[in-house]
Amino acid sequence: MNTKFPTIRKCLFPAAGYGTRFLPATKAIPKEMLPVLTKPLLQYGVEEAVAANITTIAIVTGRGKRAIEDHFDISYELEHQIKGTDKEHYLTEIRALITQCTFSYTRQVEMKGLGHAILSGETLIGNEPFAVVLADDLCDDNRNGVLAQMVALYEQYGCSVVAIEEIPKEQTHKYGVIAGEEIEKGLYRVSDMVEKPDPKDAPSNMAIIGRYILTPDIFDILRETKPGKGGEVQITDALLEQAKQGRVLAYKFKGKRFDCGSVDGFVEATNYFYAKGVAE
Ligand code: G1P
Repeated sequence: MNTKFPTIRKCLFPAAGYGTRFLPATKAIPKEMLPVLTKPLLQYGVEEAVAANITTIAIVTGRGKRAIEDHFDISYELEHQIKGTDKEHYLTEIRALITQCTFSYTRQVEMKGLGHAILSGETLIGNEPFAVVLADDLCDDNRNGVLAQMVALYEQYGCSVVAIEEIPKEQTHKYGVIAGEEIEKGLYRVSDMVEKPDPKDAPSNMAIIGRYILTPDIFDILRETKPGKGGEVQITDALLEQAKQGRVLAYKFKGKRFDCGSVDGFVEATNYFYAKGVAE
């Protein structure tokens, strides 16, 4: 598509967290590698990026995350073992991703929050707009990926975009929550955003889910952002600075989203994708 704004070419995946809610499973395995059926969460995220024509994949990792790099690489021994057997097709999808994408990695040395993780990715992103996917928010879209929907909006408006979903008010303490004016059906110009407010302080029940398009000035803002909720540098606080200038949109995405950062959401996603696979 022709657009007057730079193309979104890169997607950043913050993947340095400890995954404490899934211990002991995440003791030696990164939480992003936990599978829903046979595919790790992170692979679903990368596939969503590719569906949005984004093939430069940047991953912020941490200690104990080497399995991620091995997953997005060829395993010669395995390839050799199954070559010519009826098991070869199991690798078709991941092989295709490895061929289409480039993967680069940087490590977040200290865990100082999502904003800090995104800032750690600056070296891989540089001075261009980019997407961010939190792999534990697993989205299913029936072939029109959530990220692709957001890229289309960026191409129209040229500013940061966050994906939102209405949640029960009592859950606002788990999310970044926005307030804004509806400028098109399901699209809001953000006027306020608060990280994990108590329900009584929440500006609405519209919660940010783990999909963002960010303009690169976010890095300078993040450098100046003081630790907020939980003593961590929050992307929500940095985005509020852009929002004050009318440069953040919130989009009620089309599709389904599962909170795979919680055991309940993970089980729900597993059942959903299993039923879907059986139906196909
Ligand atoms: C992060 C963000 C929060 C957002 C959420 C979406 O929180 O800080 O604003 O609503 O992701 O999943 P986390 O879930 O990492 O605590």
